[in-house]
Amino acid sequence: MKLTTDELRFFKRNGYLIKRNILNPELTERARARLWDGAPKGRTRDDPSTWVGPWAKEEENDEGSNHRRGFRWNFREPGDEEWMVRLLATEPKIWSMAEQMLGAGQLVQPERIRGIYCTLPYGDHPSQELNCHTDGHPFHLGVVGYIDDVPPEGGSFMVWPESHRAFYPCYTSQYLRDQIDAEHDKVRLEFNTHTPVDTHGRAGDIVFWHHRLGHMASPNTSGQLRQAVLYDYLKTDIEQAQQEPPQEDMWRDWSDELRAIGDWQD
Ligand SMILES: [Fe+2]
Repeated sequence: MKLTTDELRFFKRNGYLIKRNILNPELTERARARLWDGAPKGRTRDDPSTWVGPWAKEEENDEGSNHRRGFRWNFREPGDEEWMVRLLATEPKIWSMAEQMLGAGQLVQPERIRGIYCTLPYGDHPSQELNCHTDGHPFHLGVVGYIDDVPPEGGSFMVWPESHRAFYPCYTSQYLRDQIDAEHDKVRLEFNTHTPVDTHGRAGDIVFWHHRLGHMASPNTSGQLRQAVLYDYLKTDIEQAQQEPPQEDMWRDWSDELRAIGDWQD
């Protein structure tokens, strides 16, 4: 599967791109079922009234493999299972689009994905303020895949368009977690005054995002449990490239095809 010139331009300009109906439905169903192996007693798949957050104190879990706190549930345990990697990171359609953006034959072979990341419904709990952040760990291109429907205001992966350009120079390096706090804060507060995009969608939809894009796991005011799988594509030369300072051309490490496309239509 190939991205069109307009899609590549959209990604360069906005820092994200939504593609619909990409994931294999058998594997999304398998992931929806697998999630409940990590649920505390009393929270069950077949009773949506048990999905409402926040977690009770005794349900919270600090372990990274099945982290539960507040309204967030990051079930990372199955992230290294072969079928989970196949669901998202090496899914042939997604892989070909990622290669198109970063260069054929240049991606690190994935051994795991992050896992299944959920946001519990807020129920009667007040919604929280929207506040963007960037992920600091080294990678080039993120992908979020929805394994179940995510209605509007249902806890989507919320993005701040164009913020990748503003955040990119706010670091000492290209890819490390070494932000220059004063500059990063300035950009963050500025973008918090912009209207973000709620990337709601259906099971099977994916969102690509640039590694320095401002984003958040948005509040979930729906009755649905927000369930997503995440992976971060890296190029094989990241060990070296990550040390280098932000480049004049922020697309230097991307594919020739993507680089050749103007950010703005004439
Ligand atoms: Fe994040």
